[in-house]
Amino acid sequence: MDEKNNKYQKITNFTGEDKFSFSREHSLLLDFLYENKAINETINNLKILEIGGFYGRDAIELLRYGDVTIFDIDTKGKEMFDKFLTEAINFLNKDYKLTNNQNWKLNDNSLVYENKDILDINLKVRYDIICSYNVLHRFKKEKLKTLIIKCFNCLKEGGVMAHIFVSDIRPIEKGFENESNKSNNKIQKHEKADLKASFSNFNGNLEILEYRHILEYDSVRLVHPHVMWYLYFKKYENGNKN
Ligand SMILES: C[S@@+](CC[C@H](N)C(=O)[O-])C[C@H]1O[C@@H](n2cnc3c(N)ncnc32)[C@H](O)[C@@H]1O
Repeated sequence: MDEKNNKYQKITNFTGEDKFSFSREHSLLLDFLYENKAINETINNLKILEIGGFYGRDAIELLRYGDVTIFDIDTKGKEMFDKFLTEAINFLNKDYKLTNNQNWKLNDNSLVYENKDILDINLKVRYDIICSYNVLHRFKKEKLKTLIIKCFNCLKEGGVMAHIFVSDIRPIEKGFENESNKSNNKIQKHEKADLKASFSNFNGNLEILEYRHILEYDSVRLVHPHVMWYLYFKKYENGNKN
């Protein structure tokens, strides 16, 4: 990994591919986990939950650090996921072997795709990392609160939540004025005070809750700006700070 640039080095290389709708190069979730030391080169045994993992562009990278479960309500997601992973086999960096004998595995770590609404399921497993990219802005305020409580309850002690999602700020940049002003009913605007309040009763640190300007990519808008919430929460070990 490139310590100097604080960038996570991906194990797949799909540069220039956009047939899976979102470019492989524009999810910043792994960089964020790496930056916060939730993952590092020596770790390979975590239990990881990715909410809204869709076709698996982040899940395949998360898989390097442990077993990964995706929950996504999109019915097309699983089909794309299988196609994407089948293709990824040919783009893996050395030392990694991706197989599919009933379930997907990267070396010894397993990747399971559950085509379900995260709010409908009763989670029994405890996770080291619960994360999402470009998902939480789809939840209305009360549902987001319910989701965050659910995540907290199934985090291990010392476990982390890392969520990056579209904020209440729309970037106005040259060439994107119409885009920025367009109302998009998929986007719920979550304010910092509300987000902080959702964590106020939990034993843990909301270490980072900030905006970052990023460039995203999709095949319609190509590269375009967003201002995203970066939310990072660490549950205390032994239930308290010390
Ligand atoms: C904009 S896409 C982001 C996909 C992926 N994280 C990425 O960056 O490529 C949002 C995803 O969240 C999923 N999603 C939305 N609400 C959900 C819910 N309640 N439970 C599970 N998945 C959900 C959608 O189906 C969709 O795949």
